[in-house]
Amino acid sequence: MAVERTLIILKPDAVLRGTMGEVITRFERKGYRLVGAKLLRITPEIADKHYAEHIGKPFFGSLVAFIGMSPVLVAVIEGEDAIAVTRKLAGATNPLKAEPGTIRGDFGFTKGSDIYNTIHASDSLESAAREIALYFSPDELCSYDEEAHL
Ligand code: RTP
Ligand code: MG
Repeated sequence: MAVERTLIILKPDAVLRGTMGEVITRFERKGYRLVGAKLLRITPEIADKHYAEHIGKPFFGSLVAFIGMSPVLVAVIEGEDAIAVTRKLAGATNPLKAEPGTIRGDFGFTKGSDIYNTIHASDSLESAAREIALYFSPDELCSYDEEAHL
């Protein structure tokens, strides 16, 4: 399995409800490392770039309002098969359909047709590269010495 980097966003429900630490812990327990992290607010301009594939869909307006309702934590996760495994840890898009034990299954919720699903995760190698470049310059990403195990 190849070592990959993937982008996660801890969405406003995680920030406002104080579950960011618990979510990050799941990645640490899996043996994954953070190689970049920052708090920022996703403006409509950034949302248009990040979620370009969804522009024009019926839920796009509520998605932009939700993702911008507070600062979010944007982070880069590194590890073997990180892109697919992170999607698996996140669970199904709709928290009501996400399995218990997944991040969205355990922390996500809905209000009517609005989805508060706690985490974004890149869905492919191409998306990961594009999304990481959207939020981080190369010098903002760290590396670890392989012998630095504790
Ligand atoms: P994400 O991009 O945030 O990791 O989520 P995803 O791949 O599981 O789902 P995607 O289809 O890319 O949808 C992006 C985000 O839009 C909101 N959404 N709402 N009400 C709806 O039917 C609906 N569908 C999507 C969710 O916040 C979803 O994560
Ligand atoms: Mg997506």
